[in-house]
Order: sequence, then structure tokens, then C-alpha cells
Amino acid sequence: MKILVVGASGTLGSAVVAELSKRHDVISASRSGDVKVDVKDAASIKAMFAEVGKVDAIVFTAGKAHFGPLSAMTPELMDVGIKDKLMGQVNLVLTGTEYLNDGGSFTLVSGILATEPIKAGTNASLVNGAIDSFVVAAAIELPRGIRINAVSATVFEEAMEHYGPFFRGFKPVPVADVALAFSRSVEGATTGKIFKVGYV
Ligand SMILES: NC(=O)c1ccc[n+]([C@@H]2O[C@H](COP(=O)([O-])OP(=O)(O)OC[C@H]3O[C@@H](n4cnc5c(N)ncnc54)[C@H](OP(=O)(O)O)[C@@H]3O)[C@@H](O)[C@H]2O)c1
Repeated sequence: MKILVVGASGTLGSAVVAELSKRHDVISASRSGDVKVDVKDAASIKAMFAEVGKVDAIVFTAGKAHFGPLSAMTPELMDVGIKDKLMGQVNLVLTGTEYLNDGGSFTLVSGILATEPIKAGTNASLVNGAIDSFVVAAAIELPRGIRINAVSATVFEEAMEHYGPFFRGFKPVPVADVALAFSRSVEGATTGKIFKVGYV
């Protein structure tokens, strides 16, 4: 398969590329990647697809949200996750559908905060929940046998130095295990599923 990975250079993206590139041709995209894209900008997503052309799978491993207390939250801070992690992925699907070959797939990324809240996590919970809902709804409307799933993981072992203080009591998972869920989505037959990794 020819697989486009958006966010390929990150902690998650590197693990997903390592897993999928064993068997497939992977195109790496990000703001500074082989293929350049800024997912906050719908025009940039369109330009990326015009450059890359048709693919068999589109995988998203980027996505930013704002971490901070609800008492200090502002509309602008809420927009951080909405414009980047949420609408970045929604716009990837809206534009990317016509660039997927028949029977192709989208694999999006959400996260455990959709249903397991932490302090300072409202922006991430908001967008993760919306992504999961978008996936189950889009799955019943996508044409030509195109599938869509999301991977929703707990905190990664590799990210504990940064996120550890937010996730006290959560058992981290190796990011390579999270990459296996992306493999199940891309190389399997399921659609409309949220692959949960490391929930306890
Ligand atoms: N870290 C965790 O423990 C954890 C747990 C569960 C879920 N997640 C989710 O997994 C996803 C990836 O997290 P991560 O920790 O792997 O992130 P990361 O290491 O910061 O990597 C982010 C990747 O996205 C790219 N990127 C950033 N902004 C972009 C933009 N506007 N347009 C295009 N590409 C962009 C970056 O490359 P460039 O700088 O070149 O653009 C990089 O490749 C996020 O959605 C996160 O919420 C993370």
C-alpha cells in the first residue's frame, strides 16, 4: 500500500512509520517533513493532496491541544485544540476522501481523555470526544468502501517526562504498542471503531 502519514516525525508518528514501512510505501508529511503541510490550514491540506495524489491509506499522528485549568480557559485557548487536532483531522477527511483509492482507509488519533478526564484536560477531552464521534458518524457515509477508525491511547511511556505530572496513576504504554493499533486499522477490515490502547 501507499500510505500517507501526517505527523510522521513525532513520537507517535515515528513509531507508526517504523511499523508500517516494514510492509508498505510510506509518505511522511508534517510542517517540516518530506511533504509539507500545516493541518491548521485547509488550503495547505489541499496543496498536500495535489502534490501526493492517490493513496491507499491516510494516517494522522499529529494534533495539538491546550493543557491548562478550566478557570483560565479562554475561547482562544479552546481554539488551539479545535483548529489543530480536531479540524485538522476533519479537513484531512473532507479533502482526502477523493484522494483515497477504493477500499482505502483513514486512521485518526484521539486519546484517553475523551472519557477519562484529568485536571487541565478540558481542551484535549473536548477534541478527543469530538474526533471519536466524527469517526463513528463518518464511517456510515464514506463512499467506495472507504473505512475510517481512530486510535485512542493512554499516555505514552516516551512522553512521561513531559506529561507525567498530568497523568498521575495512569499506566503508560510503549508507543510501539500504540503503533500496532494503527496497523490493525490500516491493514485490517474494521470501520467505525475506536481502537483503545492502555485503558484500565
Ligand atoms: N504523547 C502522548 O502521551 C499521547 C497519548 C495519547 C494520544 N496522543 C496524541 O498523539 C498525537 C501525537 O502526539 P505526539 O506526542 O507523538 O506528538 P509530537 O511528538 O509532538 O509530534 C507531533 C507531530 O506532528 C507534526 N505537526 C505538529 N503540528 C503540525 C501541523 N500544524 N501540521 C502538520 N503537522 C504538524 C510534527 O512535525 P512538524 O513539527 O514537522 O510539523 C510531528 O511530526 C497527538 O494528537 C496527541 O494528542 C499523545
